[in-house]
Amino acid sequence: MNHDVKDLSLAPRGRLKMEWAARSMPVLESIKNRFAREKPFKGIRIAACLHVTSETGNLMKVLQAGGALVSLTASNPLSTQDEVAAALARYERLRVFSIKGEDNATYYRHINQALDIRPHITMDDGADLVSTLHSRRRRLLEEVIGGTEETTTGVIRLRSMAGKNVLRYPIIAVNDAKTKHFFDNRYGTGQSTLDGVLRATNILLAGMNVAVAGYGWCGRGIAFRAKGAGSRVIVCEIDPLKAIEAVMDGFEVMTMKDAAPKADVFITVTGNKNVIRREHFLRMKDGAIVANAGHFNVEIDIPGLKASSRKRREVRPFVEEYTLRNGRRIHLLGEGRLINLAAAEGHPAMVMDMSFANQALSVAHLVRFGKTLEKKVYPVPEKIDEQIAALKLKTMGLAIDVLTAEQKRYLAEWQEGT
Ligand code: ADE
Repeated sequence: MNHDVKDLSLAPRGRLKMEWAARSMPVLESIKNRFAREKPFKGIRIAACLHVTSETGNLMKVLQAGGALVSLTASNPLSTQDEVAAALARYERLRVFSIKGEDNATYYRHINQALDIRPHITMDDGADLVSTLHSRRRRLLEEVIGGTEETTTGVIRLRSMAGKNVLRYPIIAVNDAKTKHFFDNRYGTGQSTLDGVLRATNILLAGMNVAVAGYGWCGRGIAFRAKGAGSRVIVCEIDPLKAIEAVMDGFEVMTMKDAAPKADVFITVTGNKNVIRREHFLRMKDGAIVANAGHFNVEIDIPGLKASSRKRREVRPFVEEYTLRNGRRIHLLGEGRLINLAAAEGHPAMVMDMSFANQALSVAHLVRFGKTLEKKVYPVPEKIDEQIAALKLKTMGLAIDVLTAEQKRYLAEWQEGT
């Protein structure tokens, strides 16, 4: 079977969505044009496990333009845009296996179907494809040249695999490129997370107490965007340095235990599990809203919430109301899955342009040099990062200064002081 999507008749809408996104992805477009001429992926099979969005659709078209045979599966059961999956299957003849709301068994069946392509290259967002390949589909490992990883959580898992000597091929950590995490994680997650919370609830952020757990690049983005919308922002952290940074950025810093009775909205984005637990739910106000923007749905202790509740009902799409035994109601958004993709459309194309330019160029790098690399996690080559930054600026119509000869000399010297 070459696809498993919700409904092929959604395809026209999906194509329009991809077209709309493409207008904000000029860097990716320029790479596509080059790949279409040079065909760097001729004879290459690529299995991608990414959020199936219009931006991802455009990335898939770039890989195909370069001559690759591509299969695509979702990196989260709730992040697929069904109309995009339909458009890719119908108009691009892509092997797509993803349906929004699929259960866990279907999610892994789809990953396996994407792997049936026998990939030379893997593209992952969270490392579920790589871990499936290294556990249940080991025979396919022989043909794999290399892979890319999109997100912080995936990079952490892969580093753990490399550290334990179980990683069987080199992987480029796209997440760690400056043109990725400084922008996608911060501005992309910042805006799209609040977009997801707002689309699900239609609350007014002005005047709300918003607690953000985790002050990495994503947490910083969410905190600043919430502040910009008029919320009073509380940051919960476990890293003293990040906590100081949050204080000096103007946020209140406290433990989750202390934040629990204060905040109206809670957003987890730590990459760790059970950040909001039973003991916290029991201290929350009636009507508290709890959402997650981290990669996996482990940050909120949902079993603990269920066990503490006497009633549960869906009050709006993506909003479940849990009535605790103490009578207070907690609203869990998007089943604790990444709310920006569950209830909204993920990061805007403008920022995915750089992330996916990193993906496309990293795949080209792996196709050329993968066989010479060790079975480790590699950074995106600095040249690629710089090239993307320069291209993005150019497409924004912005020019920057260049060093004069005198300034270059000055930077290379050590004698000249006060
Ligand atoms: N991750 C976050 N936003 C995304 C998007 N729009 N497309 C693909 N992956 C994403």
